[in-house]
Amino acid sequence: MAKKLILDLDTGVDDALAIAYALGSPELDLMAITGTFGNVLLEQGIRNSLAVTDVLGHPEVKVFPGISHARTASEFEVLEISHFIHGLNGIGDVDIPSSTRSAEKKSAVDFLIEAVETYGKELIYVPTGPLTNLAAAIEKAPDITKQIGKVVLMGGALTVGGNVNACAEANISQDPEAADLVFRSGIPATMIGLDVTLQTLLTYKETQQWRAVGTPAGEFLADMTDYYIKAYETTAPHLGGCGLHDPLAVAVAADSSLVETLPINMKVDCSEPTRGRTIGDVERLNDPQKTMEVAVAVDVPRFLDEFMTRIGSVARSAK
Ligand code: RIB
Ligand code: CA
Repeated sequence: MAKKLILDLDTGVDDALAIAYALGSPELDLMAITGTFGNVLLEQGIRNSLAVTDVLGHPEVKVFPGISHARTASEFEVLEISHFIHGLNGIGDVDIPSSTRSAEKKSAVDFLIEAVETYGKELIYVPTGPLTNLAAAIEKAPDITKQIGKVVLMGGALTVGGNVNACAEANISQDPEAADLVFRSGIPATMIGLDVTLQTLLTYKETQQWRAVGTPAGEFLADMTDYYIKAYETTAPHLGGCGLHDPLAVAVAADSSLVETLPINMKVDCSEPTRGRTIGDVERLNDPQKTMEVAVAVDVPRFLDEFMTRIGSVARSAK
């Protein structure tokens, strides 16, 4: 039976591709999206999640509003670099119809806690933005760390440097205190960081295949992702494509054999000069129980094959 899935998104371009991957995965039942901030403001991310699920033919997916800023801040402002990479609207400045639906009234935190209590080990939670909502849920209901199936998070970097500075990856750097709380909480979590996501790259050759499908969904996915690929030509020209960060986390939720992982107890540095660095927790180094797995290798050809198959099927079947 398909596992229940909740995506927690700061819906930019690769988050939208993560939605498409989830919708194209028979192993996963996307029961809801919770909203966070990061690539865009919380409200814009929610609008994007509603509009993207509509254009991909799945208006039944509910969206719950999360927390709009980091634990140590009272507000959040989108970084200039996020606008450059994801566009002003977060989805590559592509114009798709706004959804006629609204976000749910219940908060993302309460929805997550109730979902864990209902589905327990059947539930997989995939956050692909800051870990603010999950940290708040753990604080409010600590038992969810023992009840949940697992967390597969996109964020961090263990064997490579960061992408916002030498130490920090973007999602973790948006709220290091939240990430540290999650990492030390004992919740079973797989970290899909830059170590692996910068190996999974997409080019215009692949996006053209979606455009050729001839549906609004295919055209949207191609136009949005082309914007992102173009930004990567400036920010990371050595890669030769764009990083498929968030879809890789969903892919691992569907099939953990796509990556090799290192069992390790992790923490996040919350002080300068290494604020936002994800690293092994020396205080729990000798604890025989390792609560996290960090992906250190990925089967790139197999992932890309699955990615193209699944996104292609969504592009073709969306009405
Ligand atoms: O560092 C990559 C991550 O930051 C991705 O989740 C991307 O969407 C941004 O949030
Ligand atoms: Ca993201």
